[in-house]
Amino acid sequence: MNHQELNNSENDKLTLLEKANQAVLENSKVARECPYRLHYHIMATSGWINDPNGLIQYKGEYHVFFQHYPYSPAWGPMHWGHVVSSDLVHWKHKPIALAPEESYEKGCFSGSAVDDNGILTLIYTAHDDTAVPKEVQCIATSLDGTVFTKHDHNPVINSFPKDGTDDFRDPKVWKYKDNWYLIAATGKDGIGKAVLYKSDDLREWAYIGVVCESDGTQGDIWECPDLFKLGDKDILITSLMHMKNGKNIFIIGDMNYETYKFTKFKSGEIDFGDDFYAAQTFEDDNGRRILIGWMDMWGSEFPTQKNAWAGALTIPRELEIKNGSLISKPIEELKKLRCNEKAYEAFFVNECGTNYLSALEGDSLEIEASIRLSGEGVTRFGFVLRESKDKKEKTILYYDHHNGELVIDKSMSGLGNKAVNKTKLNLIDGDTLNLSIFIDTSSIEVFANGGEIVMSNRIYPSNNTSKYYDIFSTGGMIEVQSLKAWSLKAIWD
Ligand code: FRU
Repeated sequence: MNHQELNNSENDKLTLLEKANQAVLENSKVARECPYRLHYHIMATSGWINDPNGLIQYKGEYHVFFQHYPYSPAWGPMHWGHVVSSDLVHWKHKPIALAPEESYEKGCFSGSAVDDNGILTLIYTAHDDTAVPKEVQCIATSLDGTVFTKHDHNPVINSFPKDGTDDFRDPKVWKYKDNWYLIAATGKDGIGKAVLYKSDDLREWAYIGVVCESDGTQGDIWECPDLFKLGDKDILITSLMHMKNGKNIFIIGDMNYETYKFTKFKSGEIDFGDDFYAAQTFEDDNGRRILIGWMDMWGSEFPTQKNAWAGALTIPRELEIKNGSLISKPIEELKKLRCNEKAYEAFFVNECGTNYLSALEGDSLEIEASIRLSGEGVTRFGFVLRESKDKKEKTILYYDHHNGELVIDKSMSGLGNKAVNKTKLNLIDGDTLNLSIFIDTSSIEVFANGGEIVMSNRIYPSNNTSKYYDIFSTGGMIEVQSLKAWSLKAIWD
């Protein structure tokens, strides 16, 4: 059934959601057989997903929604998929929350969630390429956190701001003092912008102005902007459209709620991997600021499409400001998944030495290591991950000492994109690298030096023996001061 046919059933709205749920279930058999299904990441039962949406802890429970096309593993008229968790680790699929069923929407694009006095309220973009304007902002509410009703008077913002264009989407809403604020994506004349609105009741919105914009090198639309307080600073994050490098930035600044000016202090990349986009954050009941991103990217290859699914979300990361910069760390709760611990005594790795980690095996694990240069001449050192028995397939994560760069080399990883990601990183005290590596069936997330640098990547090993690990050094010797590894339990049945 195509989208047009679906739209014809205007009078049968519940059925449209039911049909979407049914399609997801039907394709789940094929998806389940896929060797690349992830063990502990959020993914759809089947079908396509992109951006995380509506992150919130509501009545104690964590909710994550996501851009979802239930009918095939490719982007299509967007729905909002939905998962919930009581611990941010174990997720359960809920029925699809939003389907594009109204006359003003052919897709329910990205947005956010707030708790409006006990009413879970989703604020999202209704998108229709053939409408003028093509993107307007809408709300939907729920009392039980499962079934959502679209507001009778949608759209609640029905025109784009004078400083933008009709690429006007991805509303992120929060409360400051007694008012609601909404920041949304737009751009004009090649300059990406985040625009700000204000409301008393989430229904009537007044336009304030541009809160921050590109310096001319930061993309032409600032997708999925998010503005939040962290410690005594304000942080703006956004995903830059039409950029090859530098796709997801954070800007540390100061938001003045009287002048509505955001003063920039420092900016940087949230994640340097190939597969990270459209991140969103929320504050949980413990006051932590938690970020989740889409762990894929537009234009990527998706080898899982053969098996009726595509797309996943990153592990949740806690944000902090350290030494004036933004760092992200895996949330503590993920330690629950650890089992089968392997702890190594300190050891040296010689040039040309191999088989240091022969006790390690698997496709779902976490490695925590602290490595120090030992002696002169080291040019590079690091890990061989997901290596096949014949050693032909592998992903290499290393520090290029000569260039001062952390590198992840996917050129021999298997199917999919063969990129080599590099980013500048200083060793701690000039000689030490700390790594925390999360490996799942088809992903690798690396947190270096306590989350100063993060890299998220999908990998698709094609050899079913690609589950071995090693550590290496070239040009000289390194000392592995500590190394622990764990298998990580699966969260899905
Ligand atoms: C970002 C994005 C958003 C949009 C959504 C559509 O990846 O392009 O700007 O709302 O995806 O699925």
